[in-house]
This record gives sequence, structure tokens and C-alpha cells, in this order.
Amino acid sequence: MSIGPETFTSSAHVPRPWLDEDRTEEPLRAVEPRKISIFGLGYVGAVSLACLARDGHSLIGVDIDSNKLELLRRGQAPIVETGIQELMRTVSASGRVRVTDSVREAILATDLSFVCVGTPASSNGNQDLSAIVHIAEEIGAVLPEKSSHHVIVIRSTVRPGTVEEVIQPVLERASGMKAARDFSLCFQPEFLREGSSIEDYDHPPMTVVGSDDAYAVSVLKNLFGHLPCEFVHTTVRTAEMLKYACNAFHAVKVTFANEIGRIAQALGVDAHEVMRLLCLDRQLNISPAYLRPGFAFGGSCLPKDLKALLYAAKIRDVELPMLANVLASNSAHIEHAIDAVLSSGRRSVGMVGLSFKSGTDDLRESPFVIMAERFIGKGLKLCIYDPEVNVARLIGANKRFIEESIPHIASLMTTDLETLIRSCDVLVVSMKSPDVVAALEAHTRPDQLLLDTVRLPRRDQLKAHYLGMCW
Ligand SMILES: NC(=O)c1ccc[n+]([C@@H]2O[C@H](COP(=O)([O-])OP(=O)(O)OC[C@H]3O[C@@H](n4cnc5c(N)ncnc54)[C@H](O)[C@@H]3O)[C@@H](O)[C@H]2O)c1
Repeated sequence: MSIGPETFTSSAHVPRPWLDEDRTEEPLRAVEPRKISIFGLGYVGAVSLACLARDGHSLIGVDIDSNKLELLRRGQAPIVETGIQELMRTVSASGRVRVTDSVREAILATDLSFVCVGTPASSNGNQDLSAIVHIAEEIGAVLPEKSSHHVIVIRSTVRPGTVEEVIQPVLERASGMKAARDFSLCFQPEFLREGSSIEDYDHPPMTVVGSDDAYAVSVLKNLFGHLPCEFVHTTVRTAEMLKYACNAFHAVKVTFANEIGRIAQALGVDAHEVMRLLCLDRQLNISPAYLRPGFAFGGSCLPKDLKALLYAAKIRDVELPMLANVLASNSAHIEHAIDAVLSSGRRSVGMVGLSFKSGTDDLRESPFVIMAERFIGKGLKLCIYDPEVNVARLIGANKRFIEESIPHIASLMTTDLETLIRSCDVLVVSMKSPDVVAALEAHTRPDQLLLDTVRLPRRDQLKAHYLGMCW
């Protein structure tokens, strides 16, 4: 079943240029009209269909929902979105759009497919992949009929590993063909927001393509390279994870602003003014600062001020579940590091760095002090190197804290980094000054375990068994 003017011809007998030469990339050129199929005509699919048709491409939309197909046949959009009705009317009249429920028809008539079917949450929260698996089976079954190369772009949000471990095997099994050789497969996360999706389509924050198939990347670069944003090529799994990281980040930001709003209101403070000013800081707040996976936070300010804010909320009966769990999450991160050392079964630990971050002698609420105390409690042999803390032991502002609160730890400190590295089975490294890096490169051994909490440079030069904190 199909409607619309016949702008498409079957590509079933097109020669296979990639078989004659090493096909790795399309030459970069001005956007030229393509024949594109879109599977799933919901928010993502319908907007892509309309915008790609507007940009001069020929589109076939495929959906299993006959009501949506009927609306589209009448030139009406199946979704409510700013500007979509007008745009759909225009592209429908252009003759460049038709819709069908036939996967075969769409695959044979196009050389590039976007899969935009839903991946809703199951009742247990898991993603329901049934629609995308079904469509992959159907597409795979048609691919052998084609003599031209087909590029399949997954745009539905799928958990990391889904494209390579679920979708690719289904396509290969159904087609008897091999991805990256007989057809191309890649993942391109969609960043549009409902309500402003046409505007977002034209001004995305970035275009990200996850693929190890150079041809697929070059096809998408030809198609989307003109957009006013960075075009990023990365691995499939990174692109899949990125979409989840973005959405989790947005959810956290909304919740953060609302929790700050609730406590500010209870304290008689204008929350909007507070958040406006918070966003003015592009150095520490709205910036990459504090957004690199690494070790737990600590020090004299963050834990103390978070606790004070939570107390202020508690005595006013204001619930701040997200902020209330931040310290618990931080503790879980420290436990993760402690477990990595304890589960190794090694008994002698050298800690390179003790203060909560390098460049300071401040030991208050240092996660490394918590780690050291746990190692001592478990009876491990511990040795600690931290030149800044050593100076503090003699003269610094922390002298009293060291002498009164952690004398048992201070007594384990050494100034001899080389001997510490040579004599310990496990190294917990939280400093990356050039002298520390050079000493680690020179003196580590393959039988040692090195837990890196600061993402050391030249990690491949380290001879110890390397364990990154969360990388
Ligand atoms: N809505 C958004 O703003 C947004 C933004 C970014 C990413 N995403 C992701 O994009 C995907 C699609 O989202 P959506 O909001 O457009 O979903 P949607 O539910 O609005 O649309 C999905 C469409 O797929 C169709 N469909 C289901 N099975 C099919 C099949 N076998 N063949 C053809 N069509 C089929 C459905 O009938 C429906 O029309 C999801 O994975 C979603 O997480 C959505």
C-alpha cells in the first residue's frame, strides 16, 4: 500500500559501485537529494520526514498505525508540534513524500533508512525493544533483494550495546549479510525536544554519529554536515550512552532547580534570582567543571554546606530527596574504591596523595582519609606519600587537625616516594604532578595493582595492573 506521486523507483538493479573499489567514504559534497525511508512516524520520525522533505530529499514514511498513515496521506501531521502542520502540508504538496505500511517497498525504493520506532519502558523499567527488533527483522529480510548498498541509521534511543549486540545480529541473521560489508549500520542519537522539534532539528546542539563504518559516517556528514553545529564521529556505544547521559543530566538539572526552589521559598529567598545568578557563572557552574568522572568530592566546603542546607530543609519540613542522597552517592563511590583494593586480596597499600585534591594540604572530609582509615581497620599495611600534607604537619593550618584528629594516619606518612612505590602491592594514586607520574612510570611492576583516581597521563607507560576509578 502506498500513496503519493511516483518519485521513487526501485533501486533493485542499481550497480554496486562499492564492490569495484574500496568503498569507505562518499566524497563530501553539497547536500544532494537522496531517497530516504523513515520507520516509525511518531515525534522523531514525523519531524525528520517533514524536515528532510523540505530540504529537497524524497521520503517514504513507514508506520504500522493506519490512522497516522491516513493523516499523512491527507497532508496532515500525525503529531502536534509547532509549525509541523504547515510544513507537512507543504512537503506533501511537493510530491516528495509518500507513506506506506510496506517495509519491503520502502527499503527497495531508498538507500538510506532512519529507524525511529518507539522504545518505551516496560513495567519493570527495562526498555521494550520489541518494535525495533521487529523492524530490524523485516528490514533484514528485504536487504538480500537489493543490489545497491543500504545504510541503516538507528535514531530510537537504545541502551549501550543494543545496536551491536541486538540489532546488528538480527539484521545479519534475517539478511544473511554482514554489517559494514554488505550494508551499513550506525547510531545517531536524536536531541530534539517536543514542542520545539523543528527548530531543534535545524539547530541541534551537535550531530553525533556512532559507527565504525566510514561509509555510513560520510553519508550522514553529507546529509547533516551543513547544520550549524559540530559533527562528531564516535563509537556506537558512546553515542548510545551519550543519549542516556544527556537525558539523565536534563532530569537532574530540572530536579536540582526545583529542590533549590523549594528550600529557597521556605527560606524566603527568590529562587529565580538565585538560579539566574547561578547560571551567570560560566566558569564553575555552567561549564565542564566538575563534570569529569573521577573520584568522590570532599574538602572543607562541599560536604559541610550540603549538610547545612539539608538541615535547614529538614527543620522546615522541606523534602529534598535528590540533594539528600548526594552524600550517600559520594560514599558509594568511596566504597567502590575501597572494595577494589580489598577484593584484590593484597595486603600492603601505598597511597600517593591524601588531601581531598592535589595542590592543597586540606584533609578535612578527604575521601582518601576515609579510605586510609578503612585500610588500617582491615589490618592492611599502609604507607602514605603527600608532600603538601607533610609540610602541613610541620607548619600548616592543618597541623592541629592532623595532630588531634588523625595522628594514626600522620604516623604512616613518608617522604620517600620511590620506596613506597617499590614496596607496596597496591598503589592508590590521587596525584598527577610530573614527579609523581615519572616515579610511577619508572618504578611500578606488573605484579602490582594501581588504582587511579585522577586519570593519570600516559597510562600505557605504567607497568602495574591498571584500574581506572570509573573508566
Ligand atoms: N519524542 C522525543 O522528543 C524524542 C527525542 C529523542 C529521542 N526519542 C526517541 O526516539 C524514539 C521514537 O520516539 P517518538 O517519541 O517519536 O515515539 P512515538 O511513540 O511517538 O512514535 C513511534 C512510532 O513508531 C511506530 N511503530 C511501532 N512499531 C513499528 C513498526 N514495526 N514499524 C513501523 N512503525 C512502527 C508507532 O506506530 C509510532 O508511530 C524513541 O526511542 C524515543 O526514546 C524521542
